[in-house]
Amino acid sequence: MASSTFSGDETAPFFGFLGAAAALVFSCMGAAYGTAKSGVGVASMGVMRPELVMKSIVPVVMAGVLGEPSRVSKEQPPLARFVLRVSSSGPGRRPYISPVHERLLRTSDDFVWPVDSTFLGRFIIDVEFLDLKICPLNGGEASPVWPADGLMQSVSTQSTLRCLSRMLDEGIHADVTINTTEGTLRAHKAVLSATSPVFQSMFNHDLKEKESSTIHIKDMSLESCMALLSYLYGTIKQENFWKHRLALLGAANRYDIADLKDACEESLLEDINSTNVLARLQEAWLYQLNTLKKGCLMYLFDFGKIYDVRDEVNDFFRHADRDLMMEMFQEVLTVWKPL
Ligand SMILES: *[C@@H]1O[C@H](CO)[C@@H](O)[C@H](O)[C@H]1NC(C)=O
Ligand SMILES: *[C@@H]1O[C@H](CO)[C@@H](O)[C@H](O)[C@H]1NC(C)=O
Repeated sequence: MASSTFSGDETAPFFGFLGAAAALVFSCMGAAYGTAKSGVGVASMGVMRPELVMKSIVPVVMAGVLGEPSRVSKEQPPLARFVLRVSSSGPGRRPYISPVHERLLRTSDDFVWPVDSTFLGRFIIDVEFLDLKICPLNGGEASPVWPADGLMQSVSTQSTLRCLSRMLDEGIHADVTINTTEGTLRAHKAVLSATSPVFQSMFNHDLKEKESSTIHIKDMSLESCMALLSYLYGTIKQENFWKHRLALLGAANRYDIADLKDACEESLLEDINSTNVLARLQEAWLYQLNTLKKGCLMYLFDFGKIYDVRDEVNDFFRHADRDLMMEMFQEVLTVWKPL
């Protein structure tokens, strides 16, 4: 196998040809054509739509760098990782597939690649970019010009959250009223149903909530209810969550919203202290939060904080569930094993 080299000059007609094809494609998209920068811009578009990728885009980048490189491309040449595929239009020729190249594309010399085979007649070169990075002017790590994984998703998530927030704040097509003792709130059956099986069955079945499109929530303040809605609509603020987490825990339990319940439990674990440990233990018991319960028992017995709450413990025992007391006793036995 001979090694043949396609130099910039030899390939010029080839790139010209592909470049024209690419120009056709991109003029449809309204993209400017002919500079590395636009090539890069289009390339990033190609990656968002993988089915359009690369084959036609690559020559644009090259045409730009090969031709009259814009200042941007000269000062910030792309660092490319790519594979070449050369195939002959003649029958029976196996295509040549190059190893993965990685190089800075600065001048036309950088577009000279040795190919480990000879080709005669017409042939097609596909260049598939695996990655295309731009080195910052002042040195430092090259960063990909293509959207990072998940970037599109994050853009779309943000936009969805803004929509949901508007739906809640402006009551866009709201179709259910939440009636608390302190006032009413408007919401959407679809959102409530999608986040809570309890709400879902309320609206699915012939309950009075379906008839009247009103949900009565008597045991939550208007503010806590608002916090619940902002959680369900994805717009809750940390401080509001923190402030209303006990009410939210109750609601998560009643309306069967598992992730909210977990979030509340985790949050209640974070600031156990001797003022609140007995109340926390009671809540953990009430809502069957095992991690929180373990946390409280450890706090009380493993860390010996039971002595700090001696006075409150008497009262606690008077009202505590029998099974809970059994568990506390078990914990004592485990921790205070004789050596
Ligand atoms: C909310 O409930 C109260 C009774 O608790 C009732 O008087 C009031 O009319 C209700 N409001 C709406 C909008 O349903
Ligand atoms: C215990 O935590 C609560 C918050 O749950 C806080 O309000 C209280 O001040 C804390 N008490 C002590 C003694 O740190």
